[in-house]
Amino acid sequence: MKLLKGDIVHAPALGALETIPDGALLLDDDGTICEVLHEQPQDFDGEVFDCTGKLIMQSFADMHLHAPQFPNVGTGMDLPLLDWLKAYTFPVEAKFADLSYARRVYRRLARDLIANGTTRVCMFSSLHTDATLVLMEELERAGVTGFVGKVNMDRNGGENLQETTEESIRETLRWLAECSRFTRIKPILTPRFTPACTDELMAALGKISAEKGLYVQSHLSENLDEIAWVRELHPDCAQYWESYDKFGLWKDRTIMAHCVHSDARERSAIRQAGVVVAHCPDSNINLCSGIAPVRQMLNEGLWVTLGSDIAAGSSLSGSQMVTMSIRASKIRRFTDPEKPAFLTVPEAYYLGTTSGHRYFGAGNGFAAGDRLHAVVVDDRDFTETPRALSLSERLERALYTMTAANVCAVWSEGRLVLDRRTAAPVRKTA
Ligand code: GUN
Ligand code: FE
Repeated sequence: MKLLKGDIVHAPALGALETIPDGALLLDDDGTICEVLHEQPQDFDGEVFDCTGKLIMQSFADMHLHAPQFPNVGTGMDLPLLDWLKAYTFPVEAKFADLSYARRVYRRLARDLIANGTTRVCMFSSLHTDATLVLMEELERAGVTGFVGKVNMDRNGGENLQETTEESIRETLRWLAECSRFTRIKPILTPRFTPACTDELMAALGKISAEKGLYVQSHLSENLDEIAWVRELHPDCAQYWESYDKFGLWKDRTIMAHCVHSDARERSAIRQAGVVVAHCPDSNINLCSGIAPVRQMLNEGLWVTLGSDIAAGSSLSGSQMVTMSIRASKIRRFTDPEKPAFLTVPEAYYLGTTSGHRYFGAGNGFAAGDRLHAVVVDDRDFTETPRALSLSERLERALYTMTAANVCAVWSEGRLVLDRRTAAPVRKTA
């Protein structure tokens, strides 16, 4: 048995925060949580990870990001979605035909995810099968777990980033056959979005998904021009989501990124099908896409998770993803005539952690029986506060201000994958 000691903060339910000062997580030898202890045992003879005085937080689950866009992070924010794809995004993705480039970028990406406390992802690769396998290798090597998808796109990609329909199907099957060698990274079918996939390709992917029991991820109702384009391409569909439904891709656990412009009817279709929303607030603001109606979604019982959506989102940091969802909900509050309540810190923390982790079969918060996914945050050297902060205040401050420099340990799937506990403490200057 092992013991991880520190100040525990986890979110077992939406809006519920459990704070345990000087608590401990009792783990078995493979890193499975046996018990969340409110008192530290006096005579423990197993291995002790003493993080006393530090925050033991749930790691982040990034439910939507594009690995081959990583080189573009922080650039090209001056265009709306469809122009942005053509001008910046498709050109950088085309570079991943080069496997040594892919190796270098993906190794750095995987390391940076762990360094920022993100241990589970649902990720888009590019259309390149071999680079996608490189990505999966690098994620596994770094300790990142979750789903990765080889992107399918057989129209509107341009000269250097498009497959034929036949190629796209054949390469998807070749990729799936290779995926059996991975243990912590699983494949997910990834039609880029309706404008990038012909009906024939969508139908084939729907069939593969049903036959092989594979989940699906894509984009939905991100931008008004995109929605108008889908209407032209599928005049028989009253709404965007129906263009996925038509081909068996709209089903339980399909992840749809954005849903910025999903109205009550589309949201109802999301809930009824068991589709999961990946809300990407930073991206939606950067590309002037709009602000998703997250409060309405939560009130209606939709399953909402968060995504960084790099490189439309400009930060890989899970904590930034969480606080951006709060900022976006405040913008929605003063632009939406219904004045929906903004997200609280416990709610946003839940969306960026538990809500995403549940997609991978995890329980609520630090749940007994789950392999540990945690990030230990050293917040001792923030600027002096006029009074001692409560644990929930420390969580708020950590989410708003932490960087990778504050991360001193990360557990993923029960394994210690980053250990900087002996590094010098962070010094913050005002
Ligand atoms: N829609 C289709 N492709 C993309 C992409 O790469 N990023 C975003 N934000 N939206 C998309
Ligand atoms: Fe995206």
